[in-house]
Amino acid sequence: MARVKITKKTNNIIARDKKVFLTTTRGPYPFVAASGDGDFAYDVEGNRFIDFSSFISVYNFGVGGSNEIRSAVKAQADKLMHAAFTDYRAELPVLFAEKMLKFFPSGFGKMFLSNSGTEANEAALKFARLFTKRQYTLAFYNSFHGRTMGSLGLTSSMAVHREHFGPFNNVLHAPYPYPYRCMMVHDTEECGMEHINFIERNILSKSTSGREIAAIFVEPIQGEGGYIVPSKMFMRELRRIADENGMLLVSDEVQAGYMRTGKFLAMDNFGVKADIYTMAKAVGGGLPMGVTVTKSSLGDIPAGSHANTFGGNLASVAAGYASLKYIEKNQASLERQVRDKGKLIMKRLKEFVDDYEVVGDARGIGMMLAIELVKNKKSKEPAVKERDEVLVNAFNEGLLLLPAGKSSIRVIPPITMSVSSIGKGLDVLEGAIRKT
Ligand SMILES: Cc1ncc(COP(=O)(O)O)c(C=O)c1O
Repeated sequence: MARVKITKKTNNIIARDKKVFLTTTRGPYPFVAASGDGDFAYDVEGNRFIDFSSFISVYNFGVGGSNEIRSAVKAQADKLMHAAFTDYRAELPVLFAEKMLKFFPSGFGKMFLSNSGTEANEAALKFARLFTKRQYTLAFYNSFHGRTMGSLGLTSSMAVHREHFGPFNNVLHAPYPYPYRCMMVHDTEECGMEHINFIERNILSKSTSGREIAAIFVEPIQGEGGYIVPSKMFMRELRRIADENGMLLVSDEVQAGYMRTGKFLAMDNFGVKADIYTMAKAVGGGLPMGVTVTKSSLGDIPAGSHANTFGGNLASVAAGYASLKYIEKNQASLERQVRDKGKLIMKRLKEFVDDYEVVGDARGIGMMLAIELVKNKKSKEPAVKERDEVLVNAFNEGLLLLPAGKSSIRVIPPITMSVSSIGKGLDVLEGAIRKT
């Protein structure tokens, strides 16, 4: 008997939801959120779930945000929420930016505030064009940078995201190294060198010259595309290509950044510094925020060339500022938690690979982890139906999981989740795999 009980109450809300909302990406199980608290999420039936999704990488420090974040939002709501920040001024966003920049390498001095990851990337795209006066960008297959027209041109993880929406900006796509399925047959030791050769020998010599490309947009770890981790060498070579051709390197840290890998900036895992960083998701502690951070040497943009209405919204920034203060106070502990809990989870995920034919790979950095399901280990044929079955089986036993890529499952609990809840969640995941 499934632990989770779903009744007419849930089904009724889902039926009404379907009537009034255009379809988005709704998952394979009937979760209707009611509340959240630390390790757990609760649905409208009162079922309790261990959250291995952080509600799409947002609640890095506990479902529902910490007490400090919630109190900061409540206090700010009583003062002023919207301050027309891009036209007028307010001190809270300045405090936020000053604190945020402390987590960046020296030489990063300016930022733009928005409301989402896609908007942070739109801004980066415009700034890169403005700074370089070039029109093209280079991005990667399997990437996800958002769904508005500029960032969607960069995104290339599923045809359905793009079908009927083009034409897009001038984006050239290159293969991203996927070590479990390295498509470049000549790569020997590390998947990635042939990918670099491909960019130089084909894209930069045949599609257009490097002098026309404003920026390379890259996720340090591909998120929606399947939690794919490239080699350090690949990222360093991208930096070299950018430098040699006067292009900017943009690190999309919307999913991988903000301590998820144990570092504030996921790109730091590769020993590479970008010229522009974008962040969102966890930054607002549960409220909408996007941040685009630029290197000081790039200078400023002309007044009026980019702005928005809600960027710097004081309620969101209050949450963001409280969240930054939480990191500042607990940075060493958060780093240790990501390292220790990440190791513990990875050990179990690797055991799943050893013990179950359907689990082909376990990968990730820190607490940005995933398993990939395959029909069998030899053919590596993606086990899409089986993956969805695992998600549903786990849900029925009280565990929230999200898919990624074609047949992967993310394992991204809040960084602060207790070791005991993590263990229980992994037991449920294993049970769901065994059942499948
Ligand atoms: C790496 C990355 N960039 C951009 C986005 C888009 O963010 P949003 O959904 O907030 O627009 C996402 C969302 O999943 C993402 O993972």
